[in-house]
Amino acid sequence: MDSAQLVDRIRDFAQEQLSPPRVAHVARVALLTVDLCVRFDVDADSGLLAAWGHDLAREWSHEALLSTAVKDGQPISPLEREHPVLLHGRVGALILSDRFSVSDEEVLDAVRHHTLGHRRLGTLGKVLYVADYFEPGRGFLGAATRRVIAGDDLDQMVLAAIDDVRRRGLELAEPTQQLETELQRRVTD
Ligand SMILES: [Fe+2]
Ligand SMILES: [Fe+2]
Repeated sequence: MDSAQLVDRIRDFAQEQLSPPRVAHVARVALLTVDLCVRFDVDADSGLLAAWGHDLAREWSHEALLSTAVKDGQPISPLEREHPVLLHGRVGALILSDRFSVSDEEVLDAVRHHTLGHRRLGTLGKVLYVADYFEPGRGFLGAATRRVIAGDDLDQMVLAAIDDVRRRGLELAEPTQQLETELQRRVTD
C-alpha cells in the first residue's frame, strides 16, 4: 500500500470514529499541516498521516483511554490520571501503529505529543502542534496570534502557541514548559 492509500484508510477511519465537528477540525488541521510541511521541508505524506491520525482517540471514554494508553509501556503521569483526555495522543499513536502498521517514529511521536508538546519535539511534531493550535476553527485565537503562522520561523510559532495558552489563563503542563525552555534557549543561543 502506498502512503496515499494509507492516508485514505486513516481518513475513512477518522470519519467513522469521530463526530462531524471533530472531523471538520481534523480536516482543517490536515490542510494547515500540509501547508507547513511544504514551508518547512517536511514530507507532506508523513504530515497527512499524523494530522488524520492525531485525534483518532479524542472521543474515547476516560476508562478506555486509561486502560489502553499503558500498552505503550510508559507510566500514566499524575496529570494524565487527573485528565485522561490528555492520553488521546498516546492512544492515537497506538492505533496508528497497531491497526495501520505505521512505524515512522516521527509520525508516532508527533501524534503522541500533539497536546502538551515535548522537550524533544521534532520538526513534524512542531508542525502538528502548531497546526492543531492555529487551525482556523479555533475561536479563542486573536488576530495578532493568527498572523504568527504566516511567519517563517517554526519555533516562534510553537512559542506563540504556548504563550497563547498562558494568555488564556491555562496552566502550562510540565512537558509544555520544558518545550518552551528548550526553544527559548535556542533562540537566545
Ligand atoms: Fe488532540
Ligand atoms: Fe486536534
